[in-house]
Amino acid sequence: MDTHHPAAPAPCAGLRIGDTPPDFEARSTLGPVKLSSFRGRWLVLFSHPADFTPVCTTEFVALSKEAQAFKKRDCALMALSVDSLFSHFAWLRLIKERFGVEVRFPIVEDPTLVVGRAFGMVAPGDNDSAAVRTTFFIDPAGVIRAMNCYPASVGRSIPEMLRTLDALQAIDAQHGLAPANWQTGDALLQSPTHDLDEVYGAANETDWFLRQLPEGKRT
Ligand code: BEZ
Repeated sequence: MDTHHPAAPAPCAGLRIGDTPPDFEARSTLGPVKLSSFRGRWLVLFSHPADFTPVCTTEFVALSKEAQAFKKRDCALMALSVDSLFSHFAWLRLIKERFGVEVRFPIVEDPTLVVGRAFGMVAPGDNDSAAVRTTFFIDPAGVIRAMNCYPASVGRSIPEMLRTLDALQAIDAQHGLAPANWQTGDALLQSPTHDLDEVYGAANETDWFLRQLPEGKRT
C-alpha cells in the first residue's frame, strides 16, 4: 500500500490479534517510513486523533519522556494521524519549546486516511479520524500481538503500554501466561494440562489448571 497513490478507500480492515497488517510506506517526521522495515524488532504503532489537542499533547510528552524505556525493550514507536507533515512539525516544535522534550519517533501523515482505514483505526463511514486512539503492539515477525482502542477523551497509560510489552516479551521467552495485574518480574502461569491423569494426580483441585511456572523454567 502506498499512501500517496491510494487506488480506492480501503474498507475498515478490522485487524485482529494474530494478523499481519498490510505494509505501507508514508511520509513521516523522520522521513519516509515503511512498516516492514521494522521487522526484527518490536513496534508500537498508534494513531492519535489530531495534532494540537490537549490529551494528544500529554501523550506525546509522556511517550517521549519514556523513549529510553521502549528502546531498552527493543521496541520502536511510530505515531500516525490525518494531520499534514507540516502540522506535525509545528506541533513538535511547540512541544519542545513548551515542555522541553523532543519527539524523536516518526509521526506519519495520513491525510487521505488510507492507512487509518486499512488498520481499522477509522470507522468505515467516518470522514475524519478524530474518534480513535488505537494502539497496535507488533512483534519482530510483523504480527499483531495486542491492540487496544481508547476514545479521544481518554489518554493512554504509558506504564500499561510498557507492561503489555513486558508481558508479551516474557510469555515468548518463558512460554507462560501473564495473570491479572502481572507486573514485570512477577511469575508467569503455566498452560493447563490436557492430560486427565495430571488432573486427577494434581496436589489440589486447582493445581492442574492454575499454577505458576516452576522456578527452573523462568528466565
Ligand atoms: C485531545 O487529544 O485532547 C482530543 C483530540 C480529539 C478530540 C478531542 C480531544
